[in-house]
Amino acid sequence: MTTIVDLPSFIDTLDEAGQLARINRTVSLEYELADVAASLARTGTGAGLFNRVEGSPWPVFCGGVASHRRAAIALGCDEGETVDVMERVLDPANGIPPVSVASAGWEANTVRGDDLDTALLPIPTHSRGDGGAFITGAVTVARDPISGRGNLSYNRMLRLDEHTFGFNVNEWRDVGTFWKSRDDPDAPFPIALAIGLDPAIMIAAGVKTPVDELFIAGAIRGRGIEVRQGLTIDVDIPAAAEIVVEGLLHPAERRSEGPLAEFHGYHGEAWNSPTLEVTAISWRDNPIYQTIIPGWYEHVYLGNVLPREPLLRRFVRHLDPTADVYIPPYGNGFLAVVQIERDNPGTPKNLAMAAMAAHINILHLIVVDRDVDIHQPTEVQWALTNRVHWSEDVFTVPGAQGHEMDPTADQRGISTKVGIDATYKRERREYGERVAYPAVDLADYLR
Ligand SMILES: Cc1cc2nc3c(=O)[nH]c(=O)nc-3n(C[C@H](O)[C@H](O)[C@H](O)COP(=O)(O)O)c2cc1C
Repeated sequence: MTTIVDLPSFIDTLDEAGQLARINRTVSLEYELADVAASLARTGTGAGLFNRVEGSPWPVFCGGVASHRRAAIALGCDEGETVDVMERVLDPANGIPPVSVASAGWEANTVRGDDLDTALLPIPTHSRGDGGAFITGAVTVARDPISGRGNLSYNRMLRLDEHTFGFNVNEWRDVGTFWKSRDDPDAPFPIALAIGLDPAIMIAAGVKTPVDELFIAGAIRGRGIEVRQGLTIDVDIPAAAEIVVEGLLHPAERRSEGPLAEFHGYHGEAWNSPTLEVTAISWRDNPIYQTIIPGWYEHVYLGNVLPREPLLRRFVRHLDPTADVYIPPYGNGFLAVVQIERDNPGTPKNLAMAAMAAHINILHLIVVDRDVDIHQPTEVQWALTNRVHWSEDVFTVPGAQGHEMDPTADQRGISTKVGIDATYKRERREYGERVAYPAVDLADYLR
């Protein structure tokens, strides 16, 4: 089995597991690539490696962490262990610091100054409602000017011209806190974009935490992630990145960027955002560009599922130490499923209340029994259909604080949280055990 150390070795690992779709037909960067990638995710076909992309000498990869199975492969564990692994790596006591190295593969090719042109990068225009070509799969690497610690994040970036991007950053993000902490908050602020990465770094970058997320990536891999100082800026960048964009953020030089497909499945509005002046673009020989299809499964897995399930599980396990949880990507981070061994009739509602308090985003809670596969939407729907008496098994919490981007909430995120007890109420009506056909390995029958 391949050891994952970078994007190419992750792609090989996915291939070995039958989780890679190679697309050899030429695709357009405008809509077509994203349409195919979204169809791959929707049908569970695999991650997409687009070998021929119109106008690009480089292949494009996406969807590495767009399913529960591939999230497990990326984390190097079984599908039933993803929450255990995330819980372990999110514990700061288990963080492993990055290791500085003197050279990186991406130094092989570099352009600066007058030769710079962002058109070099095969940036897709993903959704028909998007306001242009957005970098969505880059990890922003920054350094806290006060403590010196590093930071990873995702920031959408609209290509504006040969050397400028519009750089989106919400008010409470670490990268914004960093530049505002300086004597002159409007002075140019150095950042790098690392593109084409070991998924451990991609998963870590989706975590909101006051520590360097590279420690989390190190904990996932069990060794320090190698970093190399930028060529034009003093920021430590993952050495195994396929492509690196270095630049200076100009907090006060603002331009409009947006809309872009958002995690909730609509388009986020245009923002008046800081601009990023590119100072260097570097790449490994034969690099692979990476993108995340915005508003689709991988976006939700990285931002709303993997980083949030451990705390959610801790909250419900406070009441029931054997409970399991899943935040399904089709619920965009607003829905969580809790699985229990039901004892008393009131327990499921208590567990739903505990889960509601774990994360502001979580709005809908469905509590199911052990005989329902929480990772299968059809199974959860079966439980909703066959185990919920809607006037008795549902409770609502009106006026609760939710996420301000929740499409059902008002502008301040006030909405109604809903708990649904979809467990079997044998005391109401006894139907015996559920019909079950044990799974067989179809490969044994389809020869
Ligand atoms: C695919 C993806 C895209 C994101 N895009 C943005 C964005 O454009 N602007 C932003 O402020 N946050 C965005 N986020 C959220 C932050 O990157 C993320 O919460 C990160 O953990 C910030 O953590 P930090 O404040 O510790 O750096 C995105 C998250 C994901 C997973």
